[in-house]
Amino acid sequence: MRIVNLIIVSVIVSCAQDPVPDPPAPEIFVQPTVVGELALPERSFALPADWVGSSHIYVAHHPDLGTLVGGPTGLFRLQADALVSVHDGEQIPEVDEGAVYGLSVTDEFVWVASASGLSVYDGLLKASPINDELPTGAVRAIVRVGDSVWIALEEGLWTFDGTQLGQLAQIPGVYQMIAGSNQTVSVTTVSGQSLLLKSSEAGVMQHDLSGQGLLRDVVPVASDRLFALEGGALKARVPHSQGEWIWRRTALASEDGAEPVSRAWTLSATSAGDGVWIATADALSSWVGDQIETLPMPLGLNSVLRIHPTSDGRVWLVGTERLVRLGGDGQPPPTYCDDIEPYYQANCEHCHNATPSSQAIDLSGHTAWSQRYDSIFALVQAGAMPKDADGRVDGGALYMLQRWQEGGMIECDTP
Ligand code: HEC
Repeated sequence: MRIVNLIIVSVIVSCAQDPVPDPPAPEIFVQPTVVGELALPERSFALPADWVGSSHIYVAHHPDLGTLVGGPTGLFRLQADALVSVHDGEQIPEVDEGAVYGLSVTDEFVWVASASGLSVYDGLLKASPINDELPTGAVRAIVRVGDSVWIALEEGLWTFDGTQLGQLAQIPGVYQMIAGSNQTVSVTTVSGQSLLLKSSEAGVMQHDLSGQGLLRDVVPVASDRLFALEGGALKARVPHSQGEWIWRRTALASEDGAEPVSRAWTLSATSAGDGVWIATADALSSWVGDQIETLPMPLGLNSVLRIHPTSDGRVWLVGTERLVRLGGDGQPPPTYCDDIEPYYQANCEHCHNATPSSQAIDLSGHTAWSQRYDSIFALVQAGAMPKDADGRVDGGALYMLQRWQEGGMIECDTP
């Protein structure tokens, strides 16, 4: 009896000395609750040779001016399946923009931030209307925040609301700005500083994120949520306890035990600013609220340097050698009655008409335009017509002509 007792005691003692370890605490990830698939038609465009490998490539879309692409050698228009310099065919360019560092779309035009300063494109590239007031020098980034644009100059940030230009913050060396929800903008400087700026009636509040890790591509998606990359890991900053925040790793799948993202390339805000686009080694995902939609990474992209969602609902991926467009053409094609005829009347009719005193062949009517389309397009693209256009090429007109042809040269919309 006594021996048995002793044995039991010794077993208990040995247990106490060598405790069974607790099961590891489950790592808490931020995960979506709904996961869906996205299918978008894709089309690929070769980058100009001297842009290969550059991450400073920006894409914007304007409903009347078309898709514009800015890169290391200036501003280009997307024409059919090629990128064409906006200066192609021009004899007298007004602006020599140099390398482009950002594009921002408004109703009237597209702002162009570049090595030579700020310019605007409304079919022609011109000096910006605020150049007299804005300090000179390169503009390294530009974003639209509400009804204003924020402009990053070497010495600090400026803002223009359509009537007034003002200095916003004295943060030098800003080269990247990402506008998210609630007028919140993440800002990155050449010295590696990462800040969050929130604009309100009272002014601009600054919040320094330096010291929270080597973060890049910080995207503010809601007042209480940020996404960022740290190395290849996708992280989300979420509320922790009262007034505290915590950065957590994220998984792109909803099930328990999903692997956290470890090979992400780049992030960007969605067009509406309420979510984030995420490019990883094998997929492209949009994460809005609790929901993720994913599509496989297009073939032939061995890296994605930037993602540019555009206002027409498409998404552009900047690869090292190619630009890939995801999404079809949502816009109805132009027609002769609504688009070509008004253009003809404003720009060509005073020389090309049916009167005996006409200087040149009659171009009135749908038949003349469809039969002579090729020569019209070629002459407009070469800057030769309209003859009185002072040697400048109207990119907005080219975009309209191109879409009219692609849409089947429709005469009129029949109701
Ligand atoms: C200031 C007068 C003027 C205006 C404006 C003008 N053209 Fe012309 N265009 C001419 C003249 C003159 C010619 C004859 C050839 C030449 O001088 O190049 C011509 C020739 C052409 C031709 C070649 C015709 C052929 O023989 O096949 C086309 C096509 C053309 N114009 C298209 C246009 C279009 C499109 C516009 C408007 C966007 C336009 N032109 C505006 C004066 C004008």
